[in-house]
Amino acid sequence: MAAAKTKTTSTTSLLLLFSFIIVFLSIPSFSSSSSSTDSFVFGGCAQQKYTPSSAYESNLNSLLTSLVNSATYSSYNNFTIMGSSPQDVVYGLYQCRGDLSMPDCATCVARAVTQVGGLCYQACGGALQLQGCYVKYDNATFLGVEDKTVVFKKCGPSVGYEPDAMGRRDAVLQGLMTASGPYRVGGAGDVQGLAQCVGDLSAGECQDCLVQAIGRLKSDCGTADYGDMFLGKCYVRYSTGKAPNSYKDHSDKSSNEGEKTFAIIVGLLAGVALIIIFLTFIRKVFGEHGK
Ligand SMILES: *[C@@H]1O[C@H](CO)[C@@H](O)[C@H](O)[C@H]1NC(C)=O
Ligand SMILES: *[C@@H]1O[C@H](CO)[C@@H](O)[C@H](O)[C@H]1NC(C)=O
Repeated sequence: MAAAKTKTTSTTSLLLLFSFIIVFLSIPSFSSSSSSTDSFVFGGCAQQKYTPSSAYESNLNSLLTSLVNSATYSSYNNFTIMGSSPQDVVYGLYQCRGDLSMPDCATCVARAVTQVGGLCYQACGGALQLQGCYVKYDNATFLGVEDKTVVFKKCGPSVGYEPDAMGRRDAVLQGLMTASGPYRVGGAGDVQGLAQCVGDLSAGECQDCLVQAIGRLKSDCGTADYGDMFLGKCYVRYSTGKAPNSYKDHSDKSSNEGEKTFAIIVGLLAGVALIIIFLTFIRKVFGEHGK
Protein backbone atom coordinates (compact mmCIF):
# COMPACT_ATOMS: atom_id res chain seq x y z
CA MET A 1 0.00 0.00 0.00
CA ALA A 2 2.75 2.42 1.04
CA ALA A 3 4.89 1.34 -1.92
CA ALA A 4 2.02 1.97 -4.35
CA LYS A 5 1.58 5.46 -2.95
CA THR A 6 5.29 6.30 -3.31
CA LYS A 7 5.14 5.14 -6.91
CA THR A 8 2.19 7.43 -7.70
CA THR A 9 4.01 10.31 -6.02
CA SER A 10 7.20 9.89 -8.02
CA THR A 11 5.20 9.54 -11.25
CA THR A 12 3.44 12.83 -10.51
CA SER A 13 6.77 14.45 -9.63
CA LEU A 14 8.23 13.25 -12.92
CA LEU A 15 5.23 14.61 -14.81
CA LEU A 16 5.69 17.98 -13.13
CA LEU A 17 9.40 17.94 -13.89
CA PHE A 18 8.62 17.17 -17.54
CA SER A 19 6.12 19.99 -17.88
CA PHE A 20 8.72 22.27 -16.30
CA ILE A 21 11.31 21.22 -18.91
CA ILE A 22 8.78 21.58 -21.71
CA VAL A 23 8.06 25.18 -20.70
CA PHE A 24 11.76 25.98 -20.99
CA LEU A 25 12.14 24.15 -24.28
CA SER A 26 9.19 26.06 -25.68
CA ILE A 27 10.86 29.45 -25.13
CA PRO A 28 12.61 29.51 -28.54
CA SER A 29 9.37 28.68 -30.37
CA PHE A 30 7.62 31.34 -28.31
CA SER A 31 10.09 33.94 -29.47
CA SER A 32 9.65 33.17 -33.18
CA SER A 33 5.87 33.17 -32.86
CA SER A 34 5.56 36.73 -34.21
CA SER A 35 3.87 36.50 -37.59
CA SER A 36 6.24 36.62 -40.56
CA THR A 37 4.63 39.87 -41.72
CA ASP A 38 6.09 41.74 -38.78
CA SER A 39 9.65 40.43 -38.80
CA PHE A 40 12.59 42.69 -39.50
CA VAL A 41 14.33 42.84 -42.89
CA PHE A 42 16.53 45.96 -42.69
CA GLY A 43 16.69 49.46 -41.31
CA GLY A 44 18.89 52.53 -41.67
CA CYS A 45 19.17 56.05 -40.25
CA ALA A 46 20.43 59.46 -41.35
CA GLN A 47 23.66 60.66 -39.72
CA GLN A 48 22.34 64.05 -38.61
CA LYS A 49 20.51 64.31 -35.32
CA TYR A 50 17.74 66.76 -34.53
CA THR A 51 17.54 68.81 -31.32
CA PRO A 52 15.41 67.12 -28.65
CA SER A 53 12.09 68.92 -27.95
CA SER A 54 12.52 70.94 -31.16
CA ALA A 55 9.80 71.81 -33.66
CA TYR A 56 11.32 69.15 -35.89
CA GLU A 57 10.75 66.50 -33.24
CA SER A 58 7.10 67.43 -32.80
CA ASN A 59 6.59 67.47 -36.60
CA LEU A 60 8.24 64.07 -36.84
CA ASN A 61 5.95 62.73 -34.13
CA SER A 62 2.86 63.95 -35.94
CA LEU A 63 4.18 62.49 -39.18
CA LEU A 64 4.68 59.07 -37.58
CA THR A 65 1.21 59.23 -36.03
CA SER A 66 -0.26 60.08 -39.46
CA LEU A 67 1.49 57.08 -41.02
CA VAL A 68 0.09 54.70 -38.41
CA ASN A 69 -3.44 56.14 -38.66
CA SER A 70 -3.45 56.11 -42.44
CA ALA A 71 -2.40 52.45 -42.57
CA THR A 72 -5.80 51.46 -41.18
CA TYR A 73 -7.48 52.44 -44.48
CA SER A 74 -4.80 52.60 -47.21
CA SER A 75 -1.89 50.36 -48.18
CA TYR A 76 0.21 53.37 -49.26
CA ASN A 77 0.32 57.03 -48.27
CA ASN A 78 2.70 59.97 -48.06
CA PHE A 79 2.71 62.94 -45.71
CA THR A 80 4.50 66.25 -45.53
CA ILE A 81 4.39 68.03 -42.17
CA MET A 82 5.11 71.74 -42.57
CA GLY A 83 6.74 73.60 -39.70
CA SER A 84 6.71 77.31 -39.02
CA SER A 85 10.18 77.43 -40.57
CA PRO A 86 11.36 75.56 -43.68
CA GLN A 87 14.01 73.54 -41.83
CA ASP A 88 11.32 71.89 -39.70
CA VAL A 89 9.57 70.16 -42.63
CA VAL A 90 9.37 66.36 -42.40
CA TYR A 91 8.48 64.06 -45.30
CA GLY A 92 7.40 60.48 -44.87
CA LEU A 93 5.63 57.51 -46.41
CA TYR A 94 4.78 53.89 -45.83
CA GLN A 95 3.98 51.01 -48.19
CA CYS A 96 2.35 47.75 -47.21
CA ARG A 97 2.88 44.58 -49.23
CA GLY A 98 0.02 44.28 -51.69
CA ASP A 99 -1.48 41.11 -50.18
CA LEU A 100 -1.86 42.45 -46.64
CA SER A 101 -5.34 43.07 -45.27
CA MET A 102 -5.94 46.54 -43.81
CA PRO A 103 -5.73 45.34 -40.19
CA ASP A 104 -2.44 43.56 -40.95
CA CYS A 105 -1.13 46.64 -42.75
CA ALA A 106 -1.97 48.82 -39.77
CA THR A 107 -0.32 46.40 -37.33
CA CYS A 108 2.77 46.19 -39.51
CA VAL A 109 3.16 49.97 -39.93
CA ALA A 110 2.65 50.51 -36.21
CA ARG A 111 5.44 48.03 -35.48
CA ALA A 112 7.72 49.52 -38.13
CA VAL A 113 7.20 53.02 -36.72
CA THR A 114 7.96 51.83 -33.18
CA GLN A 115 11.08 50.02 -34.34
CA VAL A 116 12.41 52.85 -36.51
CA GLY A 117 11.91 55.22 -33.58
CA GLY A 118 14.15 53.01 -31.45
CA LEU A 119 16.70 52.28 -34.17
CA CYS A 120 16.98 55.89 -35.40
CA TYR A 121 16.71 57.65 -32.06
CA GLN A 122 16.90 61.45 -32.70
CA ALA A 123 18.07 60.96 -36.29
CA CYS A 124 16.69 63.40 -38.89
CA GLY A 125 15.78 60.52 -41.17
CA GLY A 126 15.14 56.81 -41.00
CA ALA A 127 13.84 53.87 -43.01
CA LEU A 128 12.79 50.41 -41.97
CA GLN A 129 11.54 47.39 -43.85
CA LEU A 130 9.57 44.60 -42.18
CA GLN A 131 8.39 41.58 -44.20
CA GLY A 132 4.99 43.17 -44.70
CA CYS A 133 5.65 46.91 -44.85
CA TYR A 134 8.12 49.73 -45.32
CA VAL A 135 8.32 53.13 -43.63
CA LYS A 136 10.62 56.06 -44.37
CA TYR A 137 10.94 59.67 -43.21
CA ASP A 138 13.46 62.41 -43.82
CA ASN A 139 13.89 66.19 -43.71
CA ALA A 140 14.80 66.24 -47.41
CA THR A 141 12.04 65.29 -49.80
CA PHE A 142 12.22 61.91 -51.48
CA LEU A 143 8.50 61.62 -52.31
CA GLY A 144 7.88 60.77 -55.93
CA VAL A 145 11.63 60.50 -56.57
CA GLU A 146 12.95 57.35 -58.20
CA ASP A 147 15.68 55.58 -56.23
CA LYS A 148 17.37 52.50 -57.63
CA THR A 149 20.29 52.27 -55.22
CA VAL A 150 20.70 48.88 -53.55
CA VAL A 151 19.60 49.32 -49.95
CA PHE A 152 19.67 45.68 -48.87
CA LYS A 153 20.37 42.40 -50.58
CA LYS A 154 20.61 38.83 -49.43
CA CYS A 155 21.40 35.71 -51.43
CA GLY A 156 20.80 32.20 -50.13
CA PRO A 157 23.32 29.38 -50.52
CA SER A 158 23.98 28.25 -54.07
CA VAL A 159 22.03 25.21 -55.24
CA GLY A 160 24.83 24.50 -57.72
CA TYR A 161 24.24 24.40 -61.42
CA GLU A 162 20.71 23.06 -61.83
CA PRO A 163 19.45 24.12 -65.24
CA ASP A 164 15.83 23.18 -64.50
CA ALA A 165 15.61 25.04 -61.20
CA MET A 166 17.40 28.10 -62.61
CA GLY A 167 15.19 28.00 -65.70
CA ARG A 168 12.11 28.12 -63.49
CA ARG A 169 13.66 30.90 -61.41
CA ASP A 170 14.38 32.96 -64.53
CA ALA A 171 10.87 32.31 -65.86
CA VAL A 172 9.33 33.50 -62.57
CA LEU A 173 11.48 36.67 -62.63
CA GLN A 174 10.54 37.23 -66.27
CA GLY A 175 6.89 36.85 -65.29
CA LEU A 176 7.30 39.48 -62.59
CA MET A 177 8.89 41.80 -65.12
CA THR A 178 6.08 41.50 -67.66
CA ALA A 179 3.26 41.68 -65.13
CA SER A 180 1.81 45.06 -64.23
CA GLY A 181 0.99 47.00 -61.09
CA PRO A 182 2.98 47.89 -57.99
CA TYR A 183 2.53 44.42 -56.40
CA ARG A 184 3.35 41.30 -58.40
CA VAL A 185 3.58 37.62 -57.53
CA GLY A 186 4.45 34.60 -59.60
CA GLY A 187 5.39 30.96 -59.28
CA ALA A 188 6.59 27.96 -61.28
CA GLY A 189 6.92 24.56 -59.62
CA ASP A 190 8.75 25.11 -56.37
CA VAL A 191 9.85 28.66 -57.25
CA GLN A 192 7.96 31.65 -55.86
CA GLY A 193 8.54 35.29 -56.73
CA LEU A 194 7.35 38.61 -55.34
CA ALA A 195 7.80 42.21 -56.41
CA GLN A 196 6.62 45.43 -54.77
CA CYS A 197 7.06 49.10 -55.67
CA VAL A 198 6.54 52.00 -53.30
CA GLY A 199 3.27 53.74 -54.19
CA ASP A 200 4.81 57.11 -55.02
CA LEU A 201 6.33 55.79 -58.26
CA SER A 202 4.49 56.10 -61.56
CA ALA A 203 3.79 52.87 -63.46
CA GLY A 204 6.78 53.58 -65.73
CA GLU A 205 9.13 54.33 -62.82
CA CYS A 206 7.98 51.19 -61.02
CA GLN A 207 8.69 49.10 -64.11
CA ASP A 208 12.10 50.72 -64.47
CA CYS A 209 12.93 49.99 -60.83
CA LEU A 210 11.81 46.35 -61.05
CA VAL A 211 13.80 45.72 -64.24
CA GLN A 212 16.88 47.01 -62.41
CA ALA A 213 16.17 44.88 -59.30
CA ILE A 214 15.63 41.71 -61.35
CA GLY A 215 18.86 42.32 -63.28
CA ARG A 216 20.80 42.75 -60.03
CA LEU A 217 19.13 39.69 -58.50
CA LYS A 218 20.23 37.49 -61.39
CA SER A 219 23.76 38.85 -61.57
CA ASP A 220 24.42 39.06 -57.81
CA CYS A 221 22.62 35.98 -56.52
CA GLY A 222 23.61 33.64 -59.38
CA THR A 223 22.27 30.18 -58.53
CA ALA A 224 21.27 30.96 -54.93
CA ASP A 225 18.25 29.08 -53.60
CA TYR A 226 16.67 32.40 -52.66
CA GLY A 227 17.40 36.05 -53.31
CA ASP A 228 16.21 39.38 -51.92
CA MET A 229 16.99 42.64 -53.73
CA PHE A 230 15.73 45.81 -52.07
CA LEU A 231 16.32 49.02 -54.01
CA GLY A 232 15.38 52.48 -52.73
CA LYS A 233 11.83 52.35 -54.12
CA CYS A 234 11.13 48.72 -55.05
CA TYR A 235 12.10 45.16 -54.25
CA VAL A 236 12.09 41.73 -55.86
CA ARG A 237 12.44 38.45 -54.01
CA TYR A 238 12.44 34.84 -55.08
CA SER A 239 12.62 31.53 -53.29
CA THR A 240 13.09 27.99 -54.57
CA GLY A 241 11.98 24.75 -52.93
CA LYS A 242 15.60 24.28 -51.82
CA ALA A 243 15.32 27.27 -49.52
CA PRO A 244 14.45 26.28 -45.94
CA ASN A 245 11.41 28.56 -45.92
CA SER A 246 9.52 30.68 -48.38
CA TYR A 247 10.80 34.23 -48.94
CA LYS A 248 8.24 35.45 -46.46
CA ASP A 249 10.01 33.68 -43.61
CA HIS A 250 13.77 34.13 -44.14
CA SER A 251 14.33 36.76 -41.51
CA ASP A 252 12.12 35.34 -38.81
CA LYS A 253 15.18 34.67 -36.69
CA SER A 254 15.95 38.36 -36.46
CA SER A 255 12.48 39.22 -35.21
CA ASN A 256 11.65 41.88 -32.69
CA GLU A 257 13.98 41.81 -29.67
CA GLY A 258 11.27 43.22 -27.42
CA GLU A 259 9.03 40.31 -28.23
CA LYS A 260 11.81 37.85 -27.48
CA THR A 261 12.42 39.48 -24.14
CA PHE A 262 8.72 39.34 -23.42
CA ALA A 263 8.53 35.67 -24.39
CA ILE A 264 11.53 34.84 -22.22
CA ILE A 265 10.00 36.67 -19.26
CA VAL A 266 6.71 34.82 -19.75
CA GLY A 267 8.65 31.55 -19.98
CA LEU A 268 10.65 32.31 -16.84
CA LEU A 269 7.54 33.29 -14.90
CA ALA A 270 5.85 30.05 -15.95
CA GLY A 271 8.99 28.18 -14.92
CA VAL A 272 9.12 29.89 -11.52
CA ALA A 273 5.43 29.16 -10.99
CA LEU A 274 6.06 25.50 -11.75
CA ILE A 275 9.03 25.36 -9.39
CA ILE A 276 6.84 26.76 -6.62
CA ILE A 277 4.09 24.22 -7.36
CA PHE A 278 6.70 21.49 -7.48
CA LEU A 279 8.27 22.51 -4.17
CA THR A 280 4.88 22.84 -2.48
CA PHE A 281 4.03 19.40 -3.77
CA ILE A 282 7.32 17.90 -2.52
CA ARG A 283 6.78 19.52 0.87
CA LYS A 284 3.29 18.12 1.07
CA VAL A 285 4.54 14.64 0.16
CA PHE A 286 7.36 14.79 2.69
CA GLY A 287 4.96 16.25 5.25
CA GLU A 288 2.64 13.30 4.70
CA HIS A 289 5.54 10.87 5.04
CA GLY A 290 6.59 12.59 8.24
CA LYS A 291 3.26 11.90 9.89
C1 LIG B 1 18.29 68.08 -42.50
O1 LIG B 1 18.71 68.25 -41.17
C2 LIG B 1 20.10 68.34 -40.99
C3 LIG B 1 20.39 68.44 -39.52
O2 LIG B 1 19.52 69.29 -38.85
C4 LIG B 1 20.65 69.53 -41.78
O3 LIG B 1 22.05 69.55 -41.68
C5 LIG B 1 20.25 69.39 -43.23
O4 LIG B 1 20.66 70.55 -43.94
C6 LIG B 1 18.74 69.24 -43.34
N1 LIG B 1 18.37 69.03 -44.72
C7 LIG B 1 17.41 69.73 -45.28
C8 LIG B 1 17.13 69.40 -46.71
O5 LIG B 1 16.77 70.56 -44.68
C1 LIG C 1 1.14 62.37 -51.62
O1 LIG C 1 -0.16 62.42 -51.06
C2 LIG C 1 -1.01 63.36 -51.69
C3 LIG C 1 -2.31 63.43 -50.90
O2 LIG C 1 -2.73 62.16 -50.49
C4 LIG C 1 -1.23 62.95 -53.13
O3 LIG C 1 -2.08 63.86 -53.79
C5 LIG C 1 0.12 62.93 -53.82
O4 LIG C 1 -0.03 62.47 -55.14
C6 LIG C 1 1.08 62.04 -53.09
N1 LIG C 1 2.40 62.18 -53.66
C7 LIG C 1 3.12 61.14 -54.01
C8 LIG C 1 4.45 61.43 -54.55
O5 LIG C 1 2.72 60.00 -53.88
